Amino acid sequence: MTRLLVTGGCGFIGSNFIHHILRTRRDWSLVNVDKLSYAGNLENLAEIQNDPRYWFVRADIADREQMTALASEGIDVIVNFAAETHVDRSILDPAFFIRNNVLGTESLLWAAKENRVARFVQISTDEVYGSLGPTGKFTEDSPLRPNNPYAASKAAADLLCRAFQHTYGLAVIITRCSNNYGPYQFPEKVIPVCISNALADRPLPLYGDGLNVRDWIYVEDHCRAIEAVIERGQPGEVYNIGSNQEMTNLELMRTILRVLGKPESLIQFVKDRPGHDRRYAMDSTRIQRELGWRPRVGFEEGIRRTVEWYQTHQDWLARVKSGAYREYYRQHYIERHGLKE
Ligand code: NAD
Ligand code: DAU
Repeated sequence: MTRLLVTGGCGFIGSNFIHHILRTRRDWSLVNVDKLSYAGNLENLAEIQNDPRYWFVRADIADREQMTALASEGIDVIVNFAAETHVDRSILDPAFFIRNNVLGTESLLWAAKENRVARFVQISTDEVYGSLGPTGKFTEDSPLRPNNPYAASKAAADLLCRAFQHTYGLAVIITRCSNNYGPYQFPEKVIPVCISNALADRPLPLYGDGLNVRDWIYVEDHCRAIEAVIERGQPGEVYNIGSNQEMTNLELMRTILRVLGKPESLIQFVKDRPGHDRRYAMDSTRIQRELGWRPRVGFEEGIRRTVEWYQTHQDWLARVKSGAYREYYRQHYIERHGLKE
């Protein structure tokens, strides 16, 4: 039995990863450590809460003592998803990002080192490389040039991972993935914001000129890539993960509206994000060549599945959007970006 300690498992990618592993790996068990921030939702894992191969511990990864104690319980692999993840929130207040993403990762690395955990997988992002011009892709050798506080905190965490590998011989592997979409994504990220607003016939907020480009990957493809890295990744290595599905935000919103059968007039151009990265695109040749991973879900198929999931989980959406979310939406979109109500 391979025993994983997964952090941030109540968030978007973490919960998809836990569902994926319990579905596909009979001989793996998981401890999920999550502090349940605004983005963490136990409901995402309600269906598997009684699975004997799964345990939940509410804890903060920055608590070094607790992480060291948890890692001493026969853990073979740590997979660190836990982080503050929304760029717009990092622009408002970077402090949470430094605490959770940098100090949190250091505390977890320390716990892994103290307990001689065999493998530590850090879930990083393409944003650490900064922004691209109209051509080219990020490779694992691209320089780290983060442009916003979230990206800078993730790059700092990556550098700590590198240092722990080099100094203490901890077997650390870093994955850097492009933009994910799929079920359970919190409606502050662009795809669930657009689906949620379109379902309610409300305007879709498009930042700037709408021509910024993102490289979209269906979350299940990302989860399969992480699984391959856990099994076959080389310690000390970095793996880029992407799906070659680049598009402008304008094209993205048009596609969502087409799938939902809603008019393009719902798109509203609003004030741009400060320091908005123009384009991301990932070269994932290494993981394809060395670990045999390939993305399987094309964008048309993935967005159709995602829209369908939100349509059939409107109760989930309504619960997530109650309370503090309303205040965030009002301040961020209506007051700062000038979105119509
Ligand atoms: P998310 O915001 O949906 O979830 C983050 C989870 O981490 C939440 O459950 C939250 O409660 C938990 N968490 C935050 N700080 C914590 C702490 N100090 N201790 C314990 N738990 C804590 O995030 P996501 O989109 O699922 O992203 C997961 C990881 O993947 C992040 O590390 C992110 O940087 C990385 N990533 C995300 C994307 C993307 O497109 N969403 C792409 C590439 C990489
Ligand atoms: O690239 C990977 C990163 O993708 C992850 O590391 C981050 O955790 C994740 O949040 C995501 O960052 P982005 O900033 O790319 O995602 P977001 O969904 O916030 O924005 C995607 C694009 O859409 C970006 O160009 C900004 C634009 N946008 C975003 C929002 C929320 C809009 O036009 N309107 C919006 O309301």
